[in-house]
Formats: sequence, structure tokens, C-alpha cells
Amino acid sequence: MRETLERLEREFDAALADAGADTSAVEAVRVRFLGRKGELTGLMKSIGSLPAEERKDAGRDINALKRRIDQRLTEAAQRAESASVEEQLARERIDVSLPSCIPWAGSLHPVTHTRRELERIFREMGFSVESGPEVEDDFHNFEALNMPPDHPARDDTDTFYLDGGLLLRTHTSPVQIRTMQSRKPPIKMVCPGRVYRRDLDATHLPMFHQLEALVVGENVSMADLKGTLSAVWKRFFGDEVEMRLRPGYFPFVEPGCEYDVSCRVCEGKGCRVCKNSGWIELGGAGMVHPAVFEAVELDADRYSGFAFGLGLDRIAMMRHGIDDLRLLVENDVRFLGQFPV
Ligand code: PHE
Repeated sequence: MRETLERLEREFDAALADAGADTSAVEAVRVRFLGRKGELTGLMKSIGSLPAEERKDAGRDINALKRRIDQRLTEAAQRAESASVEEQLARERIDVSLPSCIPWAGSLHPVTHTRRELERIFREMGFSVESGPEVEDDFHNFEALNMPPDHPARDDTDTFYLDGGLLLRTHTSPVQIRTMQSRKPPIKMVCPGRVYRRDLDATHLPMFHQLEALVVGENVSMADLKGTLSAVWKRFFGDEVEMRLRPGYFPFVEPGCEYDVSCRVCEGKGCRVCKNSGWIELGGAGMVHPAVFEAVELDADRYSGFAFGLGLDRIAMMRHGIDDLRLLVENDVRFLGQFPV
């Protein structure tokens, strides 16, 4: 019996060593030695057939071996269990110091961004935001704006004409006309939009963006025009910005002017962008011409108004320090991605 038990213990140790840290292999070893049909169990059952004086010692030895086996199995099972936890932890380890993947978020085109910001400023000042057709008729684009048929701005070389007396609007001013035709004063509106001219060189595109503003009411004065313009640019560029009006001519305003702001690049000291003048021209403005009121059948003795226009592309360039107009139309994502919302 003693030899049998010693052999069994060696076999058990070898089997357990083979099982290593594999939970199910350790369990198989338990079944093989301690299971209902296991080798040690079989030995226990055979005690009955031993001579009576050997039974007691045999029973004690078998039980002692059974306890040792049990203990080693339990330890092996624990080792296997913690090894599998370790392995899982290693497998699922997350290195939180790795750079994360940045989600692709869209961004706004700098012109769109500038347009929206200006719309917000005008809305806060009580203006409505209007729109008008890009394909216009002669009346709204020219005639009602005091540009008779022989006006030089109506030249074929400046305007894209379409069939049926239509054209691509050359400015957003026709929306002034449409608004005054559809609504009675007081009017406070702006209209951003695309405009078209036969122009293409380093500083001009055949399609660009303007924003038109129109205020009509009783006793609207040139002082209101100047105050409105300077309030808008202070909000847009900051309080330090200075603005000035210069005489200018547009057929649909009288008096007419152009307006400049102090250069944002050099803060008025003079640089390449402002051609050393310290000023940047932003657009045209003036008091609504009586001939325009007449075209939309408004009483010019009762009402007065001012209008101004601005080039959104140029303002977006100034705002974001963009020095080449072509960047705005090339749609290079490396450029466009630099203006997150
Ligand atoms: N429509 C003019 C232009 O395109 C700008 C302007 C608008 C001038 C309103 C005066 C008043 O140049």
C-alpha cells in the first residue's frame, strides 16, 4: 500500500506540474485523482478488502495523501485563477498617456464665419436679415438704383448678362429696392449674398460676397450712418478701431462716401497690407438718393435713409490675416480646417 501511495503522489505531482496555470487542466487533475471514479477514491474503496490489521494505517495514509493532494490542488487553482486575471489585465491594458484620436469636426469657411458674426452684430442692433435673388432684372440691379441705361456700370465688360433681360446681380443693392417695395418704413435690414462681376485677377474674383445695409425712416441722418458704421466696426474689430468717411460717388446715394477703418495689421502705423496709409477701405455708403425713393414710390419729403455695402471676402481676410484671395476659393482642407467654429 505504501508504495502504491508514493507512486500515486508522484503521478499526481507530475500531472499537476503539467497542468501549469491552466484552470481547466487543474480541474481535470482533480477529477482524475479525487473524482468519484478517481484513483484515490478507488483506493479508499479497496480498503475493505485489506486484512483487518492493515485497514487502520491504510485509511490514515490515504486520508493524509488526500489532504495533501487537496491542498496542492487548491493552491494550483488559485495560481491559475490569478494568472488568468493578470493575463486579462495585460490584454485589456489602456495606455492613457497615448495621444487620443481627435474627432473630425467640421469648420466654417472664413467668409461664412465673418458673415454670421456680422449678422449677429446687426441682429443685436435691431436689423432684420434679408435675402434676394442672384439672378436679377435690370430694374432692380440698375434702373431703380438711379443707373439709367447709358450708365457706364452697365457695360457688357462689367456685367454677366443672361437671356431674357436678366443678369447676375453686380451688388447686393437690388435687395434695398426689393425690401422697400415689399415693406413700409421704418426699415432696418441687412442682406448678405453672392455678387458677380466680369473681373478676374490677383485681387478680384468673378464671384464675391457683399453685405448690404439699409435704414429708412423719418429723420434718418448722415450722423446715424456714421454712428451705425462705427458701432458695427467697434463690435467686430474691437474698441480700438478707428473709422473715417471719405467722399465717394455711387449713383443711388447723395451724399455718397467710402469708409475706411484703421489697419488691423499695423494698428494704423502703416504696413504692406494698408500700403503704408494706416487705413483699409471697407466699402461704400451714403444717404438714399431721392430718385431711389421715387422708383419704389416712397415719399422722399417724408422719409430719409442711409445705405452701406461691404465686401465680406476682404473683411474675412483682414480678420483672419489671410493674404491671398485665392485661398478663399481653392477649398484646400488644410487651409479650411484652420477655422474651427
Ligand atoms: N453697391 C455698392 C458697390 O457694390 C456699395 C454701396 C452700397 C454703396 C450701399 C453705397 C451704398 O460698390
